[in-house]
Amino acid sequence: MGSVARKDYKVEPAGAEAAEGMGILGRRTFGNDPMQRRIFPKDREHLTPRDEFKAWRTRSLGKRLMKEGNVTFKVVDPSDSTRIIGMAQWSRPYFFANPENDKRAAGEDETPACVDLEARNQLMEALDGARKETWRDDWNFWYLGTLAVDEDYRRQGIATLLMEWGIQQAEKDGLPLYLEATPMGALFYPSLGFEAIKVIPVMDGACDLTLMIKYPKKCE
Ligand SMILES: CC(C)(COP(=O)(O)OP(=O)(O)OC[C@H]1O[C@@H](n2cnc3c(N)ncnc32)[C@H](O)[C@@H]1OP(=O)(O)O)[C@@H](O)C(=O)NCCC(=O)NCCS
Repeated sequence: MGSVARKDYKVEPAGAEAAEGMGILGRRTFGNDPMQRRIFPKDREHLTPRDEFKAWRTRSLGKRLMKEGNVTFKVVDPSDSTRIIGMAQWSRPYFFANPENDKRAAGEDETPACVDLEARNQLMEALDGARKETWRDDWNFWYLGTLAVDEDYRRQGIATLLMEWGIQQAEKDGLPLYLEATPMGALFYPSLGFEAIKVIPVMDGACDLTLMIKYPKKCE
């Protein structure tokens, strides 16, 4: 099952102090992803000064880190503990039952001008539709919101390590674990027993997300 971490990587809980490092990792990891390019298009970059954008990103990640129901873990570079090279953010059961946890209502306020709100809302609507059809107002599941490993550190088992905690929680509770995978994620998660249940075309078909599930063993 997955690969074994080849170095001395350690998974640690991440608090608000991790927001900046996670922002940098997110940008490195997802910056060229077609979805992100539509939400943060190059031709709008000039509308928000770089420092202002980074400050907004840090604030908004900080809020998500501190949100009740979210649990976040990080892996740092063993030779530079200030550099976050991997992260995973989990949401506990019933997280989605609380409308305040919807990203749009969650106080990701002061959205900077460089964000294409129409593209972001299109993405959220595509996700909403697929989630509604799948979850049918049953919010009793674990959910993986974010998983990222810096490209310089991939294929060394870091993502597999980061997945352990959430998989164990879902297993212990006898609950399913859901996520929406990027195309690269969709290649990784089957190594941990996830199955694709729905492909969600997003951004006018520019990209697909795959809704995936891992069933607890006792329910298989
Ligand atoms: C997907 C991602 C998290 C995987 O991280 P990782 O630390 O490289 O993953 P692991 O080393 O734990 O991989 C475990 C196994 O998964 C499979 N796997 C991982 N990445 C893969 C890829 N790109 N293609 C095919 N299989 C892959 C392999 O079976 C691998 O075992 P192996 O290396 O012994 O062959 C990482 O590539 C990433 O951050 N990608 C960009 C962001 C992203 O898309 N995140 C997912 C969001 S849903």
